[in-house]
Amino acid sequence: MALGTARPALPALLALIGALLPGLGGAQTSVHPLEAIIPRGGSVQVNCSTSCDHRAFLGLETQLTKKESQGDNWKIFELSGVQEDSTPICFSYCQAQTMVSMSLTVYWFPERVELAPLPRWQPVGENLTLRCQVAGGAPRTNLTVVLLRGEEELSRQPAVGEPAEATVTVLAGRDDHLANFSCRTELDLRSRGLGLFQNSSAPRQLRTFVLPETHPNLAIPSIVEAGTEWPVDCTMDGLFPASEAQVRLELSGRNLHPTVTHKNDSLLATAHDKANMEEEGTHQLSCVVTLGHQSRSWRENVTIYSFPAPNLTLSEPEVSEQTVVTVECEAQAGALVMLSGGVPARLPGPRAQLQLNASAEDNGRIFFCSALLEVAGQVLHKNQTRELRVLYGPRLDKRDCLGNWTWQEGSQQTLTCQAWGNPVPELKCHRKGDNALLPIGDLRPVTREVAGTYLCQARSPRGEVTREVVVNVIYHRNYILTTILVTVAFTIGAAGLAAYFYNRQRKIQKYKLQKAQEAAAMKLNTPATPP
Ligand SMILES: *[C@@H]1O[C@H](CO)[C@@H](O)[C@H](O)[C@H]1NC(C)=O
Ligand SMILES: *[C@@H]1O[C@H](CO)[C@@H](O)[C@H](O)[C@H]1NC(C)=O
Ligand SMILES: *[C@@H]1O[C@H](CO)[C@@H](O)[C@H](O)[C@H]1NC(C)=O
Ligand SMILES: *[C@@H]1O[C@H](CO)[C@@H](O)[C@H](O)[C@H]1NC(C)=O
Ligand SMILES: *[C@@H]1O[C@H](CO)[C@@H](O)[C@H](O)[C@H]1NC(C)=O
Ligand SMILES: *[C@@H]1O[C@H](CO)[C@@H](O)[C@H](O)[C@H]1NC(C)=O
Ligand SMILES: *[C@@H]1O[C@H](CO)[C@@H](O)[C@H](O)[C@H]1NC(C)=O
Ligand SMILES: *[C@@H]1O[C@H](CO)[C@@H](O)[C@H](O)[C@H]1NC(C)=O
Ligand SMILES: *[C@@H]1O[C@H](CO)[C@@H](O)[C@H](O)[C@H]1NC(C)=O
Ligand SMILES: *[C@@H]1O[C@H](CO)[C@@H](O)[C@H](O)[C@H]1NC(C)=O
Ligand SMILES: *[C@@H]1O[C@H](CO)[C@@H](O)[C@H](O)[C@H]1NC(C)=O
Repeated sequence: MALGTARPALPALLALIGALLPGLGGAQTSVHPLEAIIPRGGSVQVNCSTSCDHRAFLGLETQLTKKESQGDNWKIFELSGVQEDSTPICFSYCQAQTMVSMSLTVYWFPERVELAPLPRWQPVGENLTLRCQVAGGAPRTNLTVVLLRGEEELSRQPAVGEPAEATVTVLAGRDDHLANFSCRTELDLRSRGLGLFQNSSAPRQLRTFVLPETHPNLAIPSIVEAGTEWPVDCTMDGLFPASEAQVRLELSGRNLHPTVTHKNDSLLATAHDKANMEEEGTHQLSCVVTLGHQSRSWRENVTIYSFPAPNLTLSEPEVSEQTVVTVECEAQAGALVMLSGGVPARLPGPRAQLQLNASAEDNGRIFFCSALLEVAGQVLHKNQTRELRVLYGPRLDKRDCLGNWTWQEGSQQTLTCQAWGNPVPELKCHRKGDNALLPIGDLRPVTREVAGTYLCQARSPRGEVTREVVVNVIYHRNYILTTILVTVAFTIGAAGLAAYFYNRQRKIQKYKLQKAQEAAAMKLNTPATPP
């Protein structure tokens, strides 16, 4: 074995001569076995024999280590430590030299079967080349490399080269996600009476992904008030496998910590952020979705502003009537304020002020100040209200407490008497004379007992006022009597008048008759005119 380059030349030459001169001198050399296959490093016995009728010289031409033992015209050579294929030549001298060669094949299993590492992530729809390397193994003519996906054979090719490399290109699909790829060698020595020997590589798992070219959808308000909570939503569809997608939300370098949900092929990241006062200004919010070794991102601007409600102040929140009150409204720099509250609103300005001479009517008046601030093109409002309280009264006037009521007895009436003031005055009405209380409210029916003159007194810590209230009740029965009396008086009067006129007429006639008789008596021949 150690003899080097000269080694194959001599046996080949001898074999050639042996082949050309068969049976020269009648004796033949034979060898057994003619073909042998042995594991590498193994040993084999070769029986060289001759048909020579006398004792002949037998030899085996080989570089291999050999041990001899012999019989009559045969010799056993035990060859050991066989590392590679060789063709030992058996020769003998009878009358002449004859020879015969045998074929010794060495087999061994590959020492290394390895599938080259797969990409960490493989995009779906792109070609993936699987590469298998096989070091060692013989005989190569009977060694095949098989590339596998799971148990499925993708390719089968002879092992060529050292190390042998087998490749196959597959179009990665969604089905290939988490598939195990491997490579296997098959040393098929069944035709040599041995078996089929397989050696496999360690499996490698593939992860495939789909990340669309579109960008994530980022839904955020364009402006956000500092100190308030605001929502951030980032979604992306068409992802595979969606559950492996990573998402990062970042506000000007600050990481928001979103809650991520996966649904079929989509991803939704939601965060609720609370901006600090220090973060006032325009920021960029970015959403980055990463899947496989690729990522897609989108950014939106968000303006964080701070806008406290305007300060609306009254010089005094509670004043007596006829006191001048100053109402002032002020907002932060950059904002405009508008003050109103019964008075016409002024034009907006950085500051607004109004003065008023407080009257009773101003009690409870609400002053309203609206501040406007423009943030990133949007007009924002913040309002503030203040109520003015005016101390006045007590008041008890004709409008709310009539001084004169005249009612029919038995009719349905409501007596109202209301005192005004702040604080609300206490009202009491007592009848002159018997001090009876005036029944304020519904009087039904009106009784004559309520009639009288009352003194109403409204009293508050601010003083007291008094007012007289007269209640007249007209009795029903008196009215009928009066009617009867009037009727009777009229009847009597009419009868008297009639009697008078009748009497007078009678007297006139009597007088006229008397005059006529007197005239007849004076003028005797004058005939009297009948009456
Ligand atoms: C070797 O071969 C010869 C001839 O065929 C035979 O007679 C002999 O027995 C063989 N020797 C052994 C040990 O098998
Ligand atoms: C993948 O490889 C095949 C040939 O192996 C080729 O026909 C095909 O165009 C390739 N596809 C892509 C997407 O590269
Ligand atoms: C093994 O190799 C031998 C010699 O090259 C060949 O004759 C035989 O067909 C091969 N067997 C297989 C299964 O490839
Ligand atoms: C691939 O192999 C891993 C571990 O060896 C196993 O958990 C997984 O189920 C295999 N995948 C398939 C598709 O068989
Ligand atoms: C190859 O397979 C054979 C049996 O098929 C086994 O004896 C041998 O150890 C394997 N070689 C390696 C490197 O795994
Ligand atoms: C999402 O998955 C649900 C059930 O898991 C299924 O009903 C629905 O059709 C799927 N939607 C899409 C768009 O694939
Ligand atoms: C975001 O703001 C920057 C300036 O801060 C501006 O250049 C950019 O155009 C804005 N982007 C959008 C989408 O408004
Ligand atoms: C407030 O108004 C009343 C009458 O309406 C007037 O008598 C008074 O002088 C006014 N006071 C002031 C300070 O203007
Ligand atoms: C309102 O008043 C408070 C306390 O006096 C002050 O701290 C704040 O700056 C004022 N706000 C505005 C907008 O003037
Ligand atoms: C403040 O007032 C404006 C104008 O009246 C109104 O549009 C806005 O809704 C109010 N805002 C609040 C918070 O009351
Ligand atoms: C009440 O009314 C009557 C007539 O209805 C009138 O004569 C009287 O003066 C009035 N009294 C008061 C106090 O107003």
